[in-house]
Amino acid sequence: MIMALEARNIRVKMGHKKVLHGVDFSANSGKVTAIVGPNGSGKTTLLRAMTGEVPHQGHVHINGADVTDLLPWQLAALRAVQPQSSSIAFPFTVLEIVRLGLSAGLSAADSSVPLQALDTVGLAGFAGRMYQDLSGGEQQRVQLARVITQVWEPVVDDAPRWLILDEPVASLDIGHQFTVMDLTRSYAARGGGVVAVMHDLNLTAMFADHVVLMEAGKVAKTGSPGEVLTDEALARTYGCPVPVNTTPPIGVPFLLPQARADLAAQSG
Ligand SMILES: Nc1ncnc2c1ncn2[C@@H]1O[C@H](COP(=O)(O)OP(=O)(O)OP(=O)(O)O)[C@@H](O)[C@H]1O
Ligand SMILES: [Mg+2]
Repeated sequence: MIMALEARNIRVKMGHKKVLHGVDFSANSGKVTAIVGPNGSGKTTLLRAMTGEVPHQGHVHINGADVTDLLPWQLAALRAVQPQSSSIAFPFTVLEIVRLGLSAGLSAADSSVPLQALDTVGLAGFAGRMYQDLSGGEQQRVQLARVITQVWEPVVDDAPRWLILDEPVASLDIGHQFTVMDLTRSYAARGGGVVAVMHDLNLTAMFADHVVLMEAGKVAKTGSPGEVLTDEALARTYGCPVPVNTTPPIGVPFLLPQARADLAAQSG
């Protein structure tokens, strides 16, 4: 059954600064929804409001239920969240970190899930390594393995579960970017929901079904990658020229940012 993660009229203030000005957001299960936008436009704050980590006005519904009516363990069984950065202060092994996902998501009782999750993020054989000794990109994939362990089965009792990821490919090489984006597609194809904050607009165009473009604490545009990623919208929002082309024969948009000097040379 297709269900939604929805936010209505979300307003957030940090100190005296208004960070979100009445944001409406909707993502359907079975789809990958990307949130894009410049640094400071409110992407992380929107995710953290939807996961209940920052005080906000407005309402958030997950699979039709108001999140304020759900108990912490019910939420943990419904959605797993990968923050933009995670620091671990104590010496844990990789497997110990990934197993934290098991205790958060009650239905993932199968003890082989953490090892399978490590395998899906390309970290088979890393279980016994110390987390602190890993590279930045390896640590990021360990965190993703923890998150997918928590909601391993995309659908439970006919209801989708949700992966909520804040820049899941930010530190990854191009091969592992594809591994992770493929994983999100497959989770959605099996009926789960995926919401991911992204900076790479080409990956977004390739992998997302639905794009939400944020600008200065508001939603500037929503729609398919082709509808949202246009020359005009990107130039206005990011403040730099980002010519959009399409790849034949399937028509996926691709962006080839050009240096201002090159554009000046062309037009001159
Ligand atoms: N705790 C805080 N106190 C004051 N301002 C904050 C706080 N957290 C965030 N902000 C401000 O809110 C705005 C939105 O921040 P947010 O982290 O949501 O941006 P973002 O779109 O995720 O950016 P990035 O792409 O850099 O991750 C920024 O201007 C930021 O400085
Ligand atoms: Mg952010």
